[in-house]
Amino acid sequence: MNRLVIAFLVLVATSVSAFAQGLPIPSYWLNQRGSEMKLYAMEPNGTFTGVYINHAAGFACQNIPHNLAGRAWADHWGHENVLFGVVWTNWAQDCHSKTLWRGHLVGHTLWTEWILIDATGHVLRGRDAFQLQP
Ligand code: BTN
Repeated sequence: MNRLVIAFLVLVATSVSAFAQGLPIPSYWLNQRGSEMKLYAMEPNGTFTGVYINHAAGFACQNIPHNLAGRAWADHWGHENVLFGVVWTNWAQDCHSKTLWRGHLVGHTLWTEWILIDATGHVLRGRDAFQLQP
C-alpha cells in the first residue's frame, strides 16, 4: 500500500514539475508553417531574445533571420506564458510589417496566436504551434 502511495506521489510531483517548466533557452523551434525560431538568451526578469526565420508560404520576408524579442512568465496557475514579436525589417529588406505572438507552453509545444500588422495598417490574425526541436 505504502509503495502505491509513494508511486502516486512521485507521479504527481513529476507531472507538476513538468507542467511548471519554464521556457527552455537556448532552444530551437519549428512551427507548422516550417518557420524557425531560435531563442538565445533570457534575462532574470524573463525577457528573451532570438531570431526568427520565416518560411511560411504566402508571406514576405522569407528565409532571412530577423531579430525577435519577448517575455516569458508563469501565471498563478503555473502556466508558462509567452509574448514575443518580430519587426520585419533587417539589413536586407523592409517588409513594413510586424508580428506579435502570445501563447503558452505545454510540454514541448508552444501554442500561440498572432497578429500581423502590415504596411497599410491592416491586421491579419492566425495561430502557430511551435515544436521544441531536440
Ligand atoms: C510579412 O509577410 O509582412 C512578413 C512575414 C510574416 C510572416 C508571418 S508571421 C505569422 C506567420 N507565422 C510564420 O511563421 N510566418 C507568418
